[in-house]
This record gives sequence, C-alpha cells and structure tokens, in this order.
Amino acid sequence: MAKPILVANWKNHPGSLAEAKALLKGLSKEARLYKNLSLFIAPPAPYLELAALKARNFARLACQDMAAFSQGTYTAMLTPDILKSLGVRLAIIGHSERRALGETSAQVVDKVKVALRAGIVPLVCIGEQARDVDGEHFDILREELKSSLSGLNAKTARGIIIAYEPVWVIGKSAKDALPPAELAQTVIFLKKQLSDLYGRSVAESIPILYGGAVEPENAGALMRETYIKGFLVGHASLKPESFKSIAESLLTKI
Ligand code: PGA
Repeated sequence: MAKPILVANWKNHPGSLAEAKALLKGLSKEARLYKNLSLFIAPPAPYLELAALKARNFARLACQDMAAFSQGTYTAMLTPDILKSLGVRLAIIGHSERRALGETSAQVVDKVKVALRAGIVPLVCIGEQARDVDGEHFDILREELKSSLSGLNAKTARGIIIAYEPVWVIGKSAKDALPPAELAQTVIFLKKQLSDLYGRSVAESIPILYGGAVEPENAGALMRETYIKGFLVGHASLKPESFKSIAESLLTKI
C-alpha cells in the first residue's frame, strides 16, 4: 500500500533563515516517524537549499509555485531546471492564495504541463470559496477541476495529485474546519468527476489530499473514512509538535 502523503506548506514563514534552520532541526527529531510517510516540505524558495540539506534524511522538497514556462528569460520566475537542480520533486500549483492574486485555471494548466514534462509532480489545488445547503459548491468544484486539468489526457493525468482545500476553512482552527462527513461526500464527488474525465482506473490512481485547518485535534477524524490519501498542512506545519501529531494520525489509519 502506498504511504500516506503529507505536504508541509510553509507559505511565507518563518521570517528568517535562522528560524527556518530551527524549524528544520525541530522536525528532524521525528525523522524516524516521517520516513513512514511520503513527506514533502514546501518552504519559501530562498530556504530550499537549506531544507534540502537539513531534511534530506526524512523529507523531499516541494515548491509553492513555479513558472508556467521552461524556456526563455523571465525575471523572478522559478523555472523547472532551477527547481530540479535544488531537488524539488513536487510543485503546489493553483493554491487559493495564488488564485486570489489573479492566477487563472489556464495558467494552472500550463504550470501542470511544465511540471509533468520536467518530472516534477504537480499538486493541483482546488476549493470552493463558500458552501451552502443548495450544494452550489459542487458545480464550482467541477468547473475548477475541469479547467485546471484542461487538455491533460488520461496517461498524463496519472502523474498528478489533487489537493482539495475549501478556501473558507484555510487558516482557521480545528473547531471551524470542514466536518469529516462533508469531506467524505466531497471526495466521492471529486472521484466521480475524475472518473468521468479519465475513466475509473486513472481516477483511482490519482491521490486526493485534504487541506484547510488540519490540526492535531481534527487530523484523525479527517483521515478516517474520508477516502483521502493525506494532508496539505499550512500553519500547523510550522509547529514541530503539532506536525508530528498530524503525521501520527495519518499512520494510525492504516
Ligand atoms: P492551513 O493552510 O493549514 O493553515 O489552513 C492550508 C493551506 O493553505 O494549504
């Protein structure tokens, strides 16, 4: 059975290289635990080299975004050659905080294709802004999923991972998080959409992760019977004790 996937999205934290070093030191104390998972750390890009060095025994590297092109001259862009040379294996693409700054699904698709061509696994983020009893979020999710994968065929779709992150939950605490039953329902819905797009066997091969207010208090319940393959964790990934406890929850399921 594949190992559960855990992705630490540090966003723009911590605020200094010295703090990043201390955080990596804290995480490394649980290296033995983390080896049981498929753990990826996505630090701010300037800390990638440090993370590559300090986490090499227990985690692989991820980036929080990447360029939508591989050839050419682009000021400030992280192109796949640079990312690969640093050891990046997975790219978070289309995070809601990037989409809020104007990133479109068309750009997401371009990035997904560039990542796949470079041998970097795209972690494609989707999520609704809000939900109500009318279930309109299902239409929104269907559209966002389809437009973020537009033009990808069944063969290439096997190489992606989906992160479902309800935007209205991101950054909140466990008590405000999505109830597990609603997560299970949403994951079934997403699997059905993937199956309609690519067929059942491809859909089953695409892992779906959950992100949004994952904390030690709710990680176990969110993992159990919700059909997810792991978590994308924001704020709790900056606290070694909390992160350890989330990792343990992922491992108790199996
Ligand atoms: P959070 O963030 O865990 O702080 O809610 C998750 C994310 O934005 O990926």
